[in-house]
Amino acid sequence: MYPVSIAIDGPAGAGKSTVARMVAKRLNFLYVDTGAMYRTVAYLCIAHSVDATNSQAIIQMLNQHDVTFQMSDDGFKALVDDVDVSVQLRDPKVSAHVSTVAAHHEVRSRLTTWQRTFAKTQSVVMDGRDIGTVVLPDATIKIFLTADVEERARRRQREFCKNGHDVPLEEIIQAVAERDARDSSREIAPLKAAGDAIQIDSTGKSAERVVDEILSLVEDAHVG
Ligand code: DC
Repeated sequence: MYPVSIAIDGPAGAGKSTVARMVAKRLNFLYVDTGAMYRTVAYLCIAHSVDATNSQAIIQMLNQHDVTFQMSDDGFKALVDDVDVSVQLRDPKVSAHVSTVAAHHEVRSRLTTWQRTFAKTQSVVMDGRDIGTVVLPDATIKIFLTADVEERARRRQREFCKNGHDVPLEEIIQAVAERDARDSSREIAPLKAAGDAIQIDSTGKSAERVVDEILSLVEDAHVG
């Protein structure tokens, strides 16, 4: 049987990572957090003072480091030269840089190739912005997960807080809205729902409830 792929796209803070991780665990599929992959590139730019607007410099930097990704019970881990940088990826500075990095064709092409290799040999739940439209256009099930901007900002605030960053809600609402606008308006692989994606609004719903909705779609498709 061919590997099954579940694509979960949507804006920042819609709950994609939490839900995707839980669905992957329930189905015993690999969870691939593509946002963490773009964040790793942004983190590297900051750590090595590489200009995030210079795609050549970014590719050169990527060629000089050993970047790997691992799935564990704690989620999706990013390793740079064998050092786990997963916590650093949640730093607000990384969040501020990441959509600049993600707008480069060369960077997207490198990460897209990588993402497809994960899905070739094993069943995956992959979350991001362009999974159903670009990375896995033939995904078995495509979900577009949304939530209203204030709820998404509150979720991000809790995530920042857990990682020791105290950021006012208003500031996060503005940053989330700006990032959505940049991600939706970029020329290459913009954030948008695939024509055949099923839209789920997670506003006011628990992660468990959204997971159940997705699992029932999987059951209906007879693929899980
Ligand atoms: O989901 P996240 O907030 O961790 O994503 C970080 C950034 O990476 C976000 O601004 C959009 C970008 N991204 C992307 O362009 N394509 C993806 N497949 C995943 C994330």
